[in-house]
Amino acid sequence: MMKETQLLKQTLHAVMNNYSSHSNDKYRPTWHLSPVAGLLNDPNGFIQFKGQYHLFYQWNPLACDHSNKFWGHWSSKDLVHWQHEPVALLPTEEFDKDGCFSGSAVNDDGQLVLIYTGNVMLGETEADRTAWQCIARQDSHGEFKKQPVIGQLEGYTGHIRDPKVWKENDLWYMVLAAQDLKLQGKVLLLESPDLENWTLKGEIAGSEFKKTGPFGYMWECPDLFRLDGHDVLISCPQGVTAQERRYLNMYQCGYLLGQLDYTTGDYPHSAFLELDHGHEFYAPQTTLAEDGRRLLVGWMGVPDQDEFSQPTLASGWIHMMSCPRELSIKEGKLYQLPVAELQELRSEHQHVKGEASTLPTFDVSSAELIVSTQGSFELNISNTLWLNCDEQGIILTRKSLSGEADEVRYWDQTVEKLQILLDRSSVEIFVNDGLGTLTSRYFPTSDPVLTFSGNASLEVDYWKLEPAPVTKI
Ligand code: FRU
Repeated sequence: MMKETQLLKQTLHAVMNNYSSHSNDKYRPTWHLSPVAGLLNDPNGFIQFKGQYHLFYQWNPLACDHSNKFWGHWSSKDLVHWQHEPVALLPTEEFDKDGCFSGSAVNDDGQLVLIYTGNVMLGETEADRTAWQCIARQDSHGEFKKQPVIGQLEGYTGHIRDPKVWKENDLWYMVLAAQDLKLQGKVLLLESPDLENWTLKGEIAGSEFKKTGPFGYMWECPDLFRLDGHDVLISCPQGVTAQERRYLNMYQCGYLLGQLDYTTGDYPHSAFLELDHGHEFYAPQTTLAEDGRRLLVGWMGVPDQDEFSQPTLASGWIHMMSCPRELSIKEGKLYQLPVAELQELRSEHQHVKGEASTLPTFDVSSAELIVSTQGSFELNISNTLWLNCDEQGIILTRKSLSGEADEVRYWDQTVEKLQILLDRSSVEIFVNDGLGTLTSRYFPTSDPVLTFSGNASLEVDYWKLEPAPVTKI
């Protein structure tokens, strides 16, 4: 209790100190989720429970770094308007003393249960660590009661984390990120009748596994789900070598399509494909909505990637979530589109048509554009972000965060349509109805204005988007 009180006092102080910086903060999103103070990373425990959406998040309220990890908590009725909920998990116990790390949430016969990793450092070095996989059942007062259920697994280093749990045929299943003793990243499958007693069924994917060659030392934040006839495995491999036009972020985020045999634990699957092609996208988590949609939220950040060059540090916060997206699979490719609910934010509308260079400029502080295109054009946002589009695909260039050379990302297929969502310091680009996405942060020095140039023939729908602040609803 002492530790909890101490952490809560410090949190309150951090939030109070940061309060006054909110009003003149030009990078603070107006309708995306961001931390009131401190650092946010992975989405956790995304679930629709008794009609209400819940999104938990990795949160260090005490500083803009990765030193303390709590589970913050928001809820929403419609995925657009969110409200703060009391902090769900604090690192107060021996088994989670160095962080309540990422995990998921399930509905266990009417009770909300969180499954997370208790991070425990054993010495000075990063490698000197162990992890507990824990559950936290919500009681009738809304409190989450913590309990460690899986300890160190034999045959793996202490890098074991990020349980994602779901139910299939009356049994619980978990995918878990782990590192084997040869320091290869692996995804494990476990099974349980009751969320407390777990059996390891085996490895289902990873680096140096079956047909996959060397592909990273850790596959963080796995998520396995059924969609349109496939078992999709999303994960975030660390340690993959960059190529000329792909794997360009510090760590990767992608997916495999396969068929999981729940009896044998066999998971024959396709090769890894990147889930996003922008500068910041990591650790996404999905959930099955009550209406059958598979929804995803990602972290608009990448660990160790120029995080501390971001200018929001001066305002006492860093990072934000992506917008909620709906997933589907067509012809062996995962598609993502912003959830339809977000259209509620659309206000002032303009429809323009013509050669790119003749179109008006647009205020894109908080905006949505749908662009149908034939030919080549450039889209320049306040000389900070440039999108070049031609028949080869997209080149997305961002002014470097750390003052180095511009940072370039690619999407290499013919573009017919772009849907672009902008919110102060973020851009999410959905290509050809969601076949490709590019998600990036950018930090223009003045209010962002978008200018088209080039000779493509374009048709543009533009909407200003209304703010959706996190408030008590
Ligand atoms: C991914 C990650 C997870 C871990 C969490 C800690 O960004 O490193 O593997 O659980 O963040 O905050």
